[in-house]
Amino acid sequence: MNPKEIINKYRKVFSKVNRINYVPIVAVEGKNSIIKDLNGKSYIDFSSSAAVMNVGYSNERVVKAIKEEAEKLTHFSFIYGFNLDALKLAEKLIEISPIEKPKVAYGLSGCDAMEGAVILARSYNADRKYFISYFDSFHGVCAGTTSVSGVNLSLKVRERIGKWAETIFVPYPNCYRSPYPNNSSKCSSYYLEKVKEVIEEKGDEIIALISEPIQGDGGIIVPPDEYFGDLKKLLDKHEIPLIDDEIQTGLGRTGKWFAIEHYGVKPDIIAIGKALGGGLPISAIVGREEIMESLPPLSYSFSLEGNPITCKAALATIEEIEEKNLLKRAESLGETILYRLRKMMEEHELIGDVRGKGLMIGVELVKDKDTKEKAVEETKKVVWRAYELGLIIFSIGGNVLRIQPPLTIEDELVERGLEILDRAIGDVEKGKVGPEALKFVEGW
Ligand SMILES: Cc1ncc(COP(=O)(O)O)c(C=O)c1O
Repeated sequence: MNPKEIINKYRKVFSKVNRINYVPIVAVEGKNSIIKDLNGKSYIDFSSSAAVMNVGYSNERVVKAIKEEAEKLTHFSFIYGFNLDALKLAEKLIEISPIEKPKVAYGLSGCDAMEGAVILARSYNADRKYFISYFDSFHGVCAGTTSVSGVNLSLKVRERIGKWAETIFVPYPNCYRSPYPNNSSKCSSYYLEKVKEVIEEKGDEIIALISEPIQGDGGIIVPPDEYFGDLKKLLDKHEIPLIDDEIQTGLGRTGKWFAIEHYGVKPDIIAIGKALGGGLPISAIVGREEIMESLPPLSYSFSLEGNPITCKAALATIEEIEEKNLLKRAESLGETILYRLRKMMEEHELIGDVRGKGLMIGVELVKDKDTKEKAVEETKKVVWRAYELGLIIFSIGGNVLRIQPPLTIEDELVERGLEILDRAIGDVEKGKVGPEALKFVEGW
């Protein structure tokens, strides 16, 4: 079968609710930061499959752990029984998470981790009514997380299925699009004020504030350094828990175990997913004991949670990050890439902003640097042209290219990937990429 036939079959077989198109790559092999397709063509991967493959595709240590455990114990109910790896992993997560008096619960995806966080917070503050969350935030597609997500997709879903919780949305601190693009502290206060207004109005009715420490699917928005510290002080004053969604930012992506550590803040609950299993489905919530114990036994549990193979894969992922010093690598490689992209920004009319921490980087494309009008079609064309030239790069928030390669990516592949990106942007600017690009890339 050729890729076209497979893609056509996909259209027949799968519901549209399950996916969205970017590029027509049928992957057959992945090794670190290279994906090979059905035709034998290789691509440099700047996506990590949406920030999942932090330690690279088919990472040796992870594969070895999976194989060994699969030979020994494919599963034994964690709900009713006990296994060693589930315990070892939870102890490790407690060690690396900035939570006081923590307890752990497992899930299988980012969505269910965040679902757990919101139901536990709601139970803990059962007499309160509202969540605060951010416009353009994404916390997953479960019923609760859809209720507290600010992206258009969730809004559209809520219009059809209704909402599970009352949520008040406030703007995420996006300095580039604020009245204070060059003044971090004024930008921070400006956005903090929006939260203060809600707290002043709703007083002690707030269940929790839900936040990504860098907004991922909203467009890789990096808040000003001051914001989270001041926010946490405000929340503490009103005894409002902070739910920190680290599904996308966690496990070294930004150069720390968890991105919230950049701001010196200790949240009340952290949700961890995506990269945790090195490509296998496992998620976790680490939260303050009083919150984590606020529901009865079994009220947040899944038959396949705490699976010994996925726990082993997660332990191997964490070990890989530690032994290869990948936090440091993400930080230094991130600085190199940011420097290169900022140079590109001077040369390309299309690049309006470059921002990021570690290997979580956004390149915002605009039609005009002064008006900042979003260059949505051009972004899709860049994604397509990069694919033609051998680079996998996805977009988010309509007009932001997300650069999130594995933390283990080889230096020369970073260079080659950046050269391709430079050329792809240039080709779009010169009008060399036709409308055929827009047929396939849907993006979101
Ligand atoms: C910040 C954040 N939270 C939650 C989720 C949902 O995770 P999952 O797709 O694994 O359910 C995502 C997925 O993109 C995410 O980026």
